[in-house]
Amino acid sequence: MTNWIRACGLDDIEQEGARRFDHGGRTYAVFRSPDDEVFCTDGLCTHEAVHIADGLVIDYEVECPKHAGAFDYRTGAATRPPPCINLRTYPAKVEGGSVLVAMPIAAVRRLRGPSDLSLTALGQVTGRQASALGQTQITTASR
Ligand code: FES
Repeated sequence: MTNWIRACGLDDIEQEGARRFDHGGRTYAVFRSPDDEVFCTDGLCTHEAVHIADGLVIDYEVECPKHAGAFDYRTGAATRPPPCINLRTYPAKVEGGSVLVAMPIAAVRRLRGPSDLSLTALGQVTGRQASALGQTQITTASR
């Protein structure tokens, strides 16, 4: 089961750009391709855990800012050493001007633990607001 989480607005990412996105104690990177598609990967380089969203994005590749290793952000594939381990990827889409990322339910549960997870009719995890309310909201993303 996956849940669509709002990472940012589409306008928050330039074409051929990236943005860091933190959620549930983990960090991710969302990318906007030259043709306005969006993608999401784990946020830390698999070589030495540098934030990959700080790297240079050219076409469909992101270059790590530390040692210039590169990844294809569409597949997560390491395309230039030193990284030899691929980045994990997550489904992403644009809906209503927002970039949404699909995460496994386990990532959502890390927010506050399974006993604090409650479902609402809204269909979206709302991170900080939900934490402030002491609950996590999940919706079907069918809006
Ligand atoms: S930390 Fe990314 S290539 Fe070395």
